[in-house]
Amino acid sequence: MTEKIRNTVVIAVGNQKGGVGKTTNTIQLAGALAERGRKSLIIDLDMTSGATKALRAPTDGWNSSFELLTGAESAEDTIITNDESEVALPPNIHLVPSSRKLAELDTFLVQNPWLIHQNLLIEPINRLRGKYDYVFLDTPPQKTKTTIPALKVADFAVLSAMPDHLAVSALAEALSDIVAAQRHANPNLALLGVILCAVPRPKTRLATALVSYVQETCVDHVGMTLKFRTEISRSVVVQEAQRAGQTIMQYQGDHPVADEYRAWGKEFEERLAAIRQKSGVAETGEVANA
Ligand SMILES: Nc1ncnc2c1ncn2[C@@H]1O[C@H](COP(=O)(O)OP(=O)(O)OP(=O)(O)O)[C@@H](O)[C@H]1O
Ligand SMILES: [Mg+2]
Repeated sequence: MTEKIRNTVVIAVGNQKGGVGKTTNTIQLAGALAERGRKSLIIDLDMTSGATKALRAPTDGWNSSFELLTGAESAEDTIITNDESEVALPPNIHLVPSSRKLAELDTFLVQNPWLIHQNLLIEPINRLRGKYDYVFLDTPPQKTKTTIPALKVADFAVLSAMPDHLAVSALAEALSDIVAAQRHANPNLALLGVILCAVPRPKTRLATALVSYVQETCVDHVGMTLKFRTEISRSVVVQEAQRAGQTIMQYQGDHPVADEYRAWGKEFEERLAAIRQKSGVAETGEVANA
């Protein structure tokens, strides 16, 4: 049977601050979307291999995002699928793992002066369009040699934030990077939304302040807030599932945080559908079979 051609949406998940849930939210959102029948590819662009480790995939000895970025291997040959016997990825989630080789990207670019840094992901992502419903680019903290190509190629950015004292300044910086990427690299890039996670219940004063900041500051061109209505609670189930190399939906599907991620998955797709409706593009998964 020929694979159906999918209307691939490429999402860069970011925030320049470390440890704010970028990787967790990428994996759990892909898990929630998998339950909705969607197929996702996560490309781990972080040298510290957060997504690769959380999915219990190898950080050594396999093709990785380094080979994908440098064109040393074709994009398809860097993907770990969920048919692999050595790596048990969650259903409907594929992964391009990261490796320490990403540290050599600077040297690679110096040795290959004709390559344009910001364009490194264009050809690989073009090859993968049509094969997945979603390609998630899990970016590192700080602007690095992998964040810029990710913002150049993405259709949308999703920002992740956790309540802490530096959250507001980090978000402000992330927003200004998106504006810079729109101006200098990718005029089609849009901020899809901001997800707040690890929110303590009951909400602390800090969490309430962050909610208001995001609600009021992260808005679209007509002033509608880009904060996702869904908020993800702080819970130990997140680390427990990570230790088991599973999504929360797999690990403890009846946990309230699993339901929060399901609610986010639904909201995420509704937001995309509304944007598509405005621009007259077909919905994800609705493109005719090949
Ligand atoms: N809802 C949550 N409840 C409790 N802990 C959480 C929650 N979400 C994420 N965490 C924890 O917060 C830590 C940071 O999360 P994560 O690694 O996803 O952030 P990150 O932004 O990808 O970090 P880095 O910048 O290092 O890549 C992890 O230990 C993760 O388990
Ligand atoms: Mg991470």
